Amino acid sequence: MKIAFVGKGGSGKTTLSALFIRHLAAAGRPVVAVDADINQHLGPALGLTDDQAAALPSLGAHLPEIKEYLRGGNPLIRSAEEMIKTTPPGPGSRLLRIVEENPVYAACARPVALDEGSVRLMVTGAFTEEDLGVACYHSKVGAVELLLNHLLDGPDEYLVTDMTAGSDSFASGLFTRFDLTLLVAEPTRKGVSVYRQYKEYAQDFDVHLRVVGNKVQGPDDLEFLRREVGEDLYACFGQSGWVRRLERGDEPPLRELEPANREVLARLQTAADTAHGLRDPRRYSAQAVRFHLRNAESWGNAKVGTDLAAQVDPDYVLGAEQPRTAGV
Ligand SMILES: Nc1ncnc2c1ncn2[C@@H]1O[C@H](COP(=O)(O)OP(=O)(O)OP(=O)(O)O)[C@@H](O)[C@H]1O
Ligand SMILES: [Mg+2]
Repeated sequence: MKIAFVGKGGSGKTTLSALFIRHLAAAGRPVVAVDADINQHLGPALGLTDDQAAALPSLGAHLPEIKEYLRGGNPLIRSAEEMIKTTPPGPGSRLLRIVEENPVYAACARPVALDEGSVRLMVTGAFTEEDLGVACYHSKVGAVELLLNHLLDGPDEYLVTDMTAGSDSFASGLFTRFDLTLLVAEPTRKGVSVYRQYKEYAQDFDVHLRVVGNKVQGPDDLEFLRREVGEDLYACFGQSGWVRRLERGDEPPLRELEPANREVLARLQTAADTAHGLRDPRRYSAQAVRFHLRNAESWGNAKVGTDLAAQVDPDYVLGAEQPRTAGV
């Protein structure tokens, strides 16, 4: 399952991503955690020191190697230089699995030990001032899009992404690459307005969107979210003393999280597992092709100097030809 946490800045995306990741790891599930936010905070939220987080390899810096590996022996892609972030896989491409060793993980992922279990963490890399609004910014997130388009993930395996705030997520096709998108909303007008904006943009792309209320303090907050969000409201995480302890620099064990909040994490897992069953591989691959053709026309063909539409094998469906179960 591929799960994204999105929402307004400061709503709690990183906090809930990290908690969900810890919950899955504690249940013994394999997890790849991805920090795709402009503000790279997932590493520290999973317990890394600032120095450890700063030393993580970045996906952005390894893009050429990633492309070379994924291209494999795909005859439609003549070189890694001709690969753009949306170049879809085809016959001969190398695919990634959640549970395996591969050169991409060796270069870009690092294990993070948690109080219960451990996960693999990948980060896009810090965004600098000059990245914002220019090609580099998108190329960093583009690495994640490329990886997701080449990922064969089975049930009971999870990739959890902490996404960038608000509508910046729509800068690429990445927001369509998830089985489940969890929009974190505080019970405020701004919180729900980001939800409405996201929903409106996402509905043309079959994005499976659910809202998780956060910092919910009582019946008034709950009532507000119910009224404003309606049936998309899936669960509500409360204002948490456990999270405050974390903020103060304590390292509270996961088992001490408030039972009601732990229950929310279990519900999110159920939502993710359900989403897996709703997958449509054909539609997923077709959407990847749609974004690729759009990029090819708007900037890719000019940048690479060739017709990138030729990289598409119209019959190829990711996951259809190489079924593989977890850990095999
Ligand atoms: N349920 C909660 N209870 C108490 N504090 C919370 C809760 N959720 C988040 N916080 C606090 O709110 C602040 C913002 O949370 P967080 O950093 O997770 O948000 P974010 O959406 O990732 O922000 P950004 O957009 O900056 O990445 C943090 O100080 C965090 O500790
Ligand atoms: Mg964050």
